[in-house]
Amino acid sequence: MFRGRKVELNVIDMKYLDRIMDAWNNPELKQYLMGAIPQSRYEEESWIKFAEQEMKARRSFVFAIERLDTGKFIGTVGVHDINWVSRSATVGIAIYSQEDREQGFGTEAMQLAIEFAWNDLNLRRLELSVHSFNERAQRIYEKLGFKIWGTAHQKMFIRGRYVDTIFMELFRELT
Ligand SMILES: CC(C)(COP(=O)(O)OP(=O)(O)OC[C@H]1O[C@@H](n2cnc3c(N)ncnc32)[C@H](O)[C@@H]1OP(=O)(O)O)[C@@H](O)C(=O)NCCC(=O)NCCS
Repeated sequence: MFRGRKVELNVIDMKYLDRIMDAWNNPELKQYLMGAIPQSRYEEESWIKFAEQEMKARRSFVFAIERLDTGKFIGTVGVHDINWVSRSATVGIAIYSQEDREQGFGTEAMQLAIEFAWNDLNLRRLELSVHSFNERAQRIYEKLGFKIWGTAHQKMFIRGRYVDTIFMELFRELT
């Protein structure tokens, strides 16, 4: 649907369920998100259905990220919790496997999501949160223009330790 040089974003769909099941039960990936709590097929199906309902209600949009060179489904990116009065939303991204990371796919996928938020949804502010140890993610957000606006100390318990959460924001007029 939205095509860059390296990746394409397509609307989330039940056809991605098996790959999402694998990814969301992988502790290596989950450490960067909300921690390694197992998730059943029922939960993952419900998550996709919920994403579809959210999309219909124009509250959130979740996209599958697909590589243009191989067509492989490599992760998801989303614009969530849209507030139409304030014209703001949150964003999130996950590239599932290490083999697909650090080749520019994540930066481009998030760039496409930002362009969608500005040019198609007419939003003006995006926000995200990231664990303080996740320097790779912070690097791509900084590259895309996000600025840190705050830190919540020891907010999340991830794999045996409390970690700080960094909050970042991006304003359309500054991009
Ligand atoms: C974070 C994520 C989306 C980034 O996507 P990606 O495709 O791997 O990243 P890119 O290749 O586009 O860019 C990575 C950048 O981080 C840099 N980087 C890599 N490791 C780093 C580290 N430990 N510290 C700082 N920067 C780092 C790279 O050099 C590159 O920057 P550059 O282009 O200036 O050289 C992806 O790695 C991912 O999904 N990781 C697991 C889940 C996750 O962390 N999600 C985000 C939760 S907030």
